[in-house]
Amino acid sequence: MNKQAVTASIGFVGLGVMGKSLALNLADNGYTVAAFDLESHRVDAAIAQDRLEAPHLPQRIFGYSSYTELLSSLSTPRIIMVSVPAGDPVDQVCNQLIDAGIESEDIVVDTGNSLWTDTRDREKHYADRFIFFSTAVSGGEEGARFGPALMPSGDPVAWTRLRPVFEAISAKVDAATGLPIERNEPGNPVKEGEPCAAYIGDSGSGHYVKMVHNGIEYADMQLICEVYHVMRHAMAMTPSEIASVLREWNKGPLHSYLIEISAEVLDHKDQETGKPLVDIIMDKAGQKGTGLWTAVSALQIGAPAPTITNAVFARALSTLKEVRVAASKTLPGPKSGGITTDKEHMIEQLHDALYCAKICAYAQGFQLMQLAAKEHGWDLNFSSIAKIWRAGCIIRAVFLQPIADAFERNPQLDSLLMDPFFVEQLVRYQDNWRSVVAQAVLAGIPAGAISSALAYYDSYRTEVLPANLLQGQRDYFGAHTFARVDLNEGKYHVHWSEPGRPMRKV
Ligand code: 6PG
Repeated sequence: MNKQAVTASIGFVGLGVMGKSLALNLADNGYTVAAFDLESHRVDAAIAQDRLEAPHLPQRIFGYSSYTELLSSLSTPRIIMVSVPAGDPVDQVCNQLIDAGIESEDIVVDTGNSLWTDTRDREKHYADRFIFFSTAVSGGEEGARFGPALMPSGDPVAWTRLRPVFEAISAKVDAATGLPIERNEPGNPVKEGEPCAAYIGDSGSGHYVKMVHNGIEYADMQLICEVYHVMRHAMAMTPSEIASVLREWNKGPLHSYLIEISAEVLDHKDQETGKPLVDIIMDKAGQKGTGLWTAVSALQIGAPAPTITNAVFARALSTLKEVRVAASKTLPGPKSGGITTDKEHMIEQLHDALYCAKICAYAQGFQLMQLAAKEHGWDLNFSSIAKIWRAGCIIRAVFLQPIADAFERNPQLDSLLMDPFFVEQLVRYQDNWRSVVAQAVLAGIPAGAISSALAYYDSYRTEVLPANLLQGQRDYFGAHTFARVDLNEGKYHVHWSEPGRPMRKV
């Protein structure tokens, strides 16, 4: 453990995968980092990597073996970043810092995937001891190391102190083109450009926005998996053929990190067997919970997010492997029917279906954030949120620029579906979308996310939904009353068992 007496500019607690990457990123951008981890070997590893990557520079990360030593090494008022698992570990660090003598003007920044309500409560709980701030970090290990998308929220005064740090380490976008600027080389600062870091709002709102980012991520991933499933199992294409299709799609409006890495995964061969690795990976999806949180929030707020929720259920259904193997021997699929379109045209249809469904998934995510903002009194800037998602984060895509433009044109936009650019896209591509859903159903290929997006779209554009019958059902068995289309006020109840009795205004 290196204990040189230095005055470090940033403290860092938790040098796991994300923490070490963020610490090295801070070092690349000129900050001296005082590091602490209960497992000291992690600090040693971060220091070793610092020396390996930047031997031409003075040491930039210094390790300490106690919270007291960590605090004493930092210039005041201090900034301490924390990267530990969500939940109790965050409070354990906060309490250790309190015991070690953290001061009221010091800022502690939670950079984990914390539940937004925990973040909101922590700001209040620790208010008289130090300033609890948070930034959600998106982009995985690579993003944290070379430029993540950052979603900070909390005390606006603290933000003025943190802003230069977050903008320096964040991913960058070329202001002229809106395209990501390629990552820096280790030992060098992230290149100039528009930072993918913007203040989100009151404490917790940043983690809420990140949670919705993950909900959209789940939907995006599931949509890609479903078009892969059609090509693999209904069109008998090989993984490498599908990879080539995705690489072609990556040149157009579907250009995105998730399409790019999906092609990489599909092209990857297992070294031992030579088989496509994807055919060897067990088809049981894991989930750390952020997509689930998004689905729960949508249900609680009453925000229609069927594609995001479907993606969470798809992961749950995938874990029932043993049940599915047994059922596959018992439950028949369609006797005939399926993909009737020629291969090249079908691939074009799949592209359009994926694009339209993706529009709906993002529309659902942004509408959820709009409703949450209303519910929690946040003043979210959706154009800014879309802009910081253009690079660094997992859902980074060329597609986020037209979303940013849509909210720039109309910050009060009810739904992305109503933005002129997306209306034109949906008009142009929806026939192929419908054809894919129909053929997937006839082929017995589960495409729940793609079809849920279509049902969402069709519901959104339907003037009269069958909820009128539903209200009649509810009033029949529960006297729950209903409103009338021909009267603009009042609730009514019918005495269903007494036909002659007049409807009653309640
Ligand atoms: C990101 C990712 C990341 C995600 C993990 C696990 O933005 O960098 O969304 O935060 O939580 O990759 O995701 P799962 O929920 O799929 O386990």
